[in-house]
Amino acid sequence: MTIQNDRIIRALLRQPVDRTPIWLMRQAGRYLPEYRELRKRTPDFMTFCKTPELACEATLQPLARFPLDAAIVFSDILTVPDAMGMDLQFVSGEGPVIRNPIRSMDDVKKLKPVEVEADLAYVQEAIRLINIELDNKIPLIGFAGSPWTVATYMVEGASSKTFSTIKTMLYREPEILHALLQRLADVTVRYLNMQIAAGARTVMIFDTWGGVLSNNEYVDFSLQYMKKIADQLIRDVNGQRIPVVFFTKHCDPWLELLAASGCDAVGLDSTVDMASAKQRVAGRVALQGNLDPFLLFAKPDRIEQAVIDILDGYGPGPGHVFNLGHGIDKDTPIDSVERMVEAVRHYGHQPVTQEMELVV
Ligand code: CP3
Repeated sequence: MTIQNDRIIRALLRQPVDRTPIWLMRQAGRYLPEYRELRKRTPDFMTFCKTPELACEATLQPLARFPLDAAIVFSDILTVPDAMGMDLQFVSGEGPVIRNPIRSMDDVKKLKPVEVEADLAYVQEAIRLINIELDNKIPLIGFAGSPWTVATYMVEGASSKTFSTIKTMLYREPEILHALLQRLADVTVRYLNMQIAAGARTVMIFDTWGGVLSNNEYVDFSLQYMKKIADQLIRDVNGQRIPVVFFTKHCDPWLELLAASGCDAVGLDSTVDMASAKQRVAGRVALQGNLDPFLLFAKPDRIEQAVIDILDGYGPGPGHVFNLGHGIDKDTPIDSVERMVEAVRHYGHQPVTQEMELVV
């Protein structure tokens, strides 16, 4: 089935587009008053995620406001540990809390085997409902957390500032952590393949906490498992390639390794300079990013200039998807989002010429 606006897919595959496409990390969520209103229907966040009609509605909300080039299925990276039998709750003001964290090999062995088609059927159903509503106008993005990032919550039992528990495990009993990461990688392959089969046109792996690893551990404990996942994903549906995007927050030291890891595109956080990133990846992958989400608290002209700087930083040629460098903040002024999207649409025009087709 062809998609009317497939700019994001084309850009992720480094094919020419008439203008730089844009979507926003966490584009559905608490900065939208209509989301906060919808959330009142089920105070419990996981119940919200598990109700496909609500997940569908939340997914569509930002699209009714802003002319974005993709939808992202409303869900969370912690659906996986939830399906593995972890006692997960989202406590207001505290974020996710897991009351039975992983601390031993026995804990890993006791994790429930996951049947994605049954245990995560609600995500499949949400994707189906969303795609009916999208009516092939724009692509839907599927996602999962990286094994390392999901493991941080499973081992720490909550969000952490120091990651001391999981790092202690990493240095003292790495075999436990590897066993957990392997379990997560296996489930994530099946989970993302289910999302692709259900209609996700591209998938993104969020490695929010990869950047807290030391230089010597990042490859072994995070990138290695993301790579294993990418190697086993369905990459072609009816002749249409399904791009895979890796996002490691604070990826700057490992950009070349990410570019060679088997993904189609790398998401950049705001600490990375776009122009040098483009040079460093040397055409091996597309780049997504990377406006500082807090720039949306600046005055309108400053926002517009920041958009121009990123577009100019990437420069001409295919392979750029505009995004924030991380999730949008819950207090973000809506006007600023409008301004940014406008600016990307205005300044992101790419002359589609025959030479450009050849550059691909
Ligand atoms: O982008 C989208 O619009 C899709 C929605 C989405 C959510 N979580 C919804 C959500 C996505 C892509 C995620 C991914 C996610 N979840 C990540 C990786 C991306 C990133 O931003 O780094 C992480 C680390 C999580 C784990 C998580 N989920 C945390 C730490 C929290 C608490 C945040 C807080 O400030 O309370 C969540 C909850 C969550 N996930 C919310 C939303 C909209 C807020 C919950 C609510 O509505 O009360």
